[in-house]
Amino acid sequence: MARFTDKVVVITGGAGGIGLAAGQLFADEGAQVLLVDLEEGALQAATKQINSDKASYCVADVTQPEQVKAYVDTAVSRYGGIDCFLNNAGIEGVVNPITDYPVEVFDKVIEVNVKGVWLGLKYVMPVMKQGGGGSIVITSSVAGVIGSPGLSAYVTSKHAVIGIMRTASLEGAPDNIRVNTVNPSPVDTRMMRSLEEAVAPGAADQAKQSFQAGIPLQRYGSPEDVANIMAFLCSDDGSFCTGSVYMVDGGSTAS
Ligand SMILES: NC(=O)c1ccc[n+]([C@@H]2O[C@H](COP(=O)([O-])OP(=O)(O)OC[C@H]3O[C@@H](n4cnc5c(N)ncnc54)[C@H](O)[C@@H]3O)[C@@H](O)[C@H]2O)c1
Repeated sequence: MARFTDKVVVITGGAGGIGLAAGQLFADEGAQVLLVDLEEGALQAATKQINSDKASYCVADVTQPEQVKAYVDTAVSRYGGIDCFLNNAGIEGVVNPITDYPVEVFDKVIEVNVKGVWLGLKYVMPVMKQGGGGSIVITSSVAGVIGSPGLSAYVTSKHAVIGIMRTASLEGAPDNIRVNTVNPSPVDTRMMRSLEEAVAPGAADQAKQSFQAGIPLQRYGSPEDVANIMAFLCSDDGSFCTGSVYMVDGGSTAS
């Protein structure tokens, strides 16, 4: 089944674990994929891994307005528009209680995870409007709906993007632009390796076991688990879905 034939998808954080899995899935289903990330080497490797002439990349920092505008312009000049936008780039910050959390790290997390998402909407939505509509998926987290000790900046940012999503969904609806969040629990990517090491230096495997034990389905999500719901929300199957929070968390927030 090719749900995205003739569709253009832009993916920020496209060289990372979830972004790359989504890029693969969308390319496999016929989309033209533009991966956006910070480093050219990582983007080259990601594009090569997708192994399709349907994938290309653009180096950009999502916190910089002119670079956001540049990745949007690249998608338009290269592919003619943007149908789907995975507003996905994010960083975890450090693990420290609020009282010891470095101010500059707090600022950086908010800059990437909140301002970066908002800038993406600011420049992508006019292009989607011109193309007759589209679907935007913002990657929030279980940390967008519950607290997590030690992760105040990350939790703040992932709650914030739910508010941004709800507002964008209302502003975009008249133009047939749908906007939702996906909210994963721990997913097997570099980000979880970093958090495991931060909570248990030198004992990351044990930290992973204990995180997994707290998830009703007893495992981390895979990047593909998240990519699958992103694809659903961007496909015609999700055509009545907007303004909502889609948990993909193995039951983590059920109790
Ligand atoms: N891995 C998890 O457990 C998990 C759980 C819930 C939500 N998330 C969210 O999923 C998203 C993707 O994370 P991931 O797990 O694939 O991690 P990852 O670290 O593999 O990927 C994140 C990507 O974002 C890129 N990035 C960071 N800052 C950027 C910037 N300023 N401009 C452009 N790109 C930038 C990184 O270079 C990286 O490639 C993030 O928003 C993350 O918060 C992850």
